[in-house]
Amino acid sequence: MCAVTCPAMAAWKGIIHAFGDRMNISKSVPPVTLCEGNTPLIPLPKLAALIAPGAELFAKFEGLNPTGSFKDRGMTTAITQSVAEGAKTVICASTGNTAAAAAAYAARAGQTCVVLIPDGKIALGKLAGAIAYGARVIAIDGSFDTALRMVREVSEQAPIALVNSVNPARLEGQKTAAWEICEQLGGFPDWLCLPVGNAGNITSYWLGFSECPGPCQCEVCPRPSRKPLLLGAQAAGASPLVTGLPCPNPETRATAIRIGAPARAEQALTAIRESNGQMLAVRDEEIFRAYHLVAETEGVFCEPSSAAGIAGLQQAVQNGMLNPEGKRIVCVLTGHGLKDPDSAVAEGADIQRVEANVDALLRGLNL
Ligand code: F0G
Repeated sequence: MCAVTCPAMAAWKGIIHAFGDRMNISKSVPPVTLCEGNTPLIPLPKLAALIAPGAELFAKFEGLNPTGSFKDRGMTTAITQSVAEGAKTVICASTGNTAAAAAAYAARAGQTCVVLIPDGKIALGKLAGAIAYGARVIAIDGSFDTALRMVREVSEQAPIALVNSVNPARLEGQKTAAWEICEQLGGFPDWLCLPVGNAGNITSYWLGFSECPGPCQCEVCPRPSRKPLLLGAQAAGASPLVTGLPCPNPETRATAIRIGAPARAEQALTAIRESNGQMLAVRDEEIFRAYHLVAETEGVFCEPSSAAGIAGLQQAVQNGMLNPEGKRIVCVLTGHGLKDPDSAVAEGADIQRVEANVDALLRGLNL
């Protein structure tokens, strides 16, 4: 048998149904699920030719989860666990995606959801989600880091369950993306590239890869026994894990990763070290170039922050740090492009206007 074989793939009912026996969460209540997970691993041959020649490049497109980001994996487990523990109200700080996911799963569980966001610094599609799913949205004049400090304290003083990724149940769900990648590739990738904000996701991937079954015993697949090298990418204006310095005023247009004090900083750095990987700082220009490139060359539309992993890969190859020849590389695209319509429209080409008749259209097309 090859990697993780999941009979539930045929009738997908979400990650707890598929992988729950390998998750450290309560099994005392039925899963709160939106059938998240089982996202595609999309080949990116044209992008590979441009930024990683000689490599087999893939996107693990997590933007195709039910609320449009990878957060759904951690939220099915965190909300299920909170229900098992009797929570009626959940709370989180968020740059947007966690808020939308928490709101959706809490709605399904019949819980009240409170989300704390940095005022004016979250993308429109994320706010729309949180509101649509019925969360109590509270904005503060402060960063994500301040919001996280506040909700941690509130959850200690009031009967409210904290569902940020400091909650271990979140990692139990998020690690399943690593197992899916192994299953889809028939083994470990050589490199895994992903954006890093609060550092819950990179911690979860390393946990997942570390818990993958041992070397494959089957005759057909040459499953490499070595876990992948991790390439984490922080926005240059919010890169405390690269500089090693406190970052009290994080700044980047990739608002999902506008975080100066990652809660899981230590674990992220351990994952990087153990995997012989690297944490890189990518400038906003590099992030947005990668964001356009993957959409325009491959038809894959992710949100700006998600493209930081691709920008990191491009930087590592360009400066000769890594040689992509013969490598199988996965870039995790953490959120869907529609989460941030403002960036897409503001950054895109101008819209051409023509009079409303066929002659004018033909003239305008100028073929
Ligand atoms: N990509 C996207 C699209 C995100 O929303 C986030 C984090 C990350 C990457 C980074 O993941 O924090 O686990 O290192 N978003 C959080 C939120 C902070 O509130 O939605 P991380």
